[in-house]
Amino acid sequence: MFDKKTVLTGVKPTGTPHLGNYLGAIMPAIEMGNKAENHYMFIADYHAINAEKDPLVLKQKIKEVACTYLALGLNPNHSVFYRQSDIPEILEITTILYAYTPKGFMNKAHAYKACVDKNREAGKPDDDGINMGLYTYPTLMAADILSFDTDIVPVGKDQVQHVEIARDIAGAINAHYGKDLLHLPEYYLKENVEIVPGVDGRKMSKSYGNIIPLFDDDKTIKKAVFSVVTDSRPMDEPKDPESVMVYEIYKAIATPEQLKEMADGLREGRLGYGHVKNMLLDAIINEIKEPREKYNYYMAHYEEVEAMLQEGAAKARPVAQQTLKRLKDAVFGK
Ligand code: TRP
Repeated sequence: MFDKKTVLTGVKPTGTPHLGNYLGAIMPAIEMGNKAENHYMFIADYHAINAEKDPLVLKQKIKEVACTYLALGLNPNHSVFYRQSDIPEILEITTILYAYTPKGFMNKAHAYKACVDKNREAGKPDDDGINMGLYTYPTLMAADILSFDTDIVPVGKDQVQHVEIARDIAGAINAHYGKDLLHLPEYYLKENVEIVPGVDGRKMSKSYGNIIPLFDDDKTIKKAVFSVVTDSRPMDEPKDPESVMVYEIYKAIATPEQLKEMADGLREGRLGYGHVKNMLLDAIINEIKEPREKYNYYMAHYEEVEAMLQEGAAKARPVAQQTLKRLKDAVFGK
């Protein structure tokens, strides 16, 4: 469904990811991009400044996210890989979109509403700590999408509404000028994204402190894997594999044969928790070995990554410039 299509993926610079991010989000995004005819993949750094005000932290996070995607197989010869802030036309387009963005859309946007709800719960004024960047971010996101004549935006559930807002704004502009100035995007909802459990069995998440890291050394990864929750049942007690958390995590990474081997061993009381943890550890180390080397390489040779991002921006900019010209010609008259 992605051939002949222009797919656009935006990522927030959130720093080094964990195994759950990799299996649940990053790997599927890269695979989708590889299947698309055109793929734009960008780091949403102007979105990030709404929340992150420390330049050093921001810089480091951008660096880590760029190196992560390259290490995990993003092909910069196929995917146009750039930083949002290197394409100033996106911001000019945002300004034009503002004139067609009903304020009510922003009031209803989930990200903003979630902050208001949090403030209310804490007994604070509705707009406490909410800046205009956060409030208007769906319009900037619309410009990210519309600048590149995007057909498809792969998103998680929380982002569906934002793609719909982009579509609505584009529709309003096209209707006003009676021309297809902007291409209407569609979202692609990643329904069956793998939710990888963390070491305590809840969804793997940095905020729960239950992650298995991706690019750390073997020792650190081993420590995390061996902290996966188990119970006190002895090895020879036959176990339903579904009742074993190590098996649940293994599902996300093992081949069908490997998975069967672990399931059979648990059911027949042949494999204890130490065994299955070692199996999980081996599978993880095997999976990340090469990406980890690449990640460390790119982190140590960031000038190469910077050059790739510049090259990506050089490819992306003319497309955004064309979109901007179309819009300005219509808005101000040729
Ligand atoms: N808002 C997205 C998120 O929170 C990131 C993003 C910014 C994005 N601009 C985009 C995603 C454009 C897709 C398309 O994850």
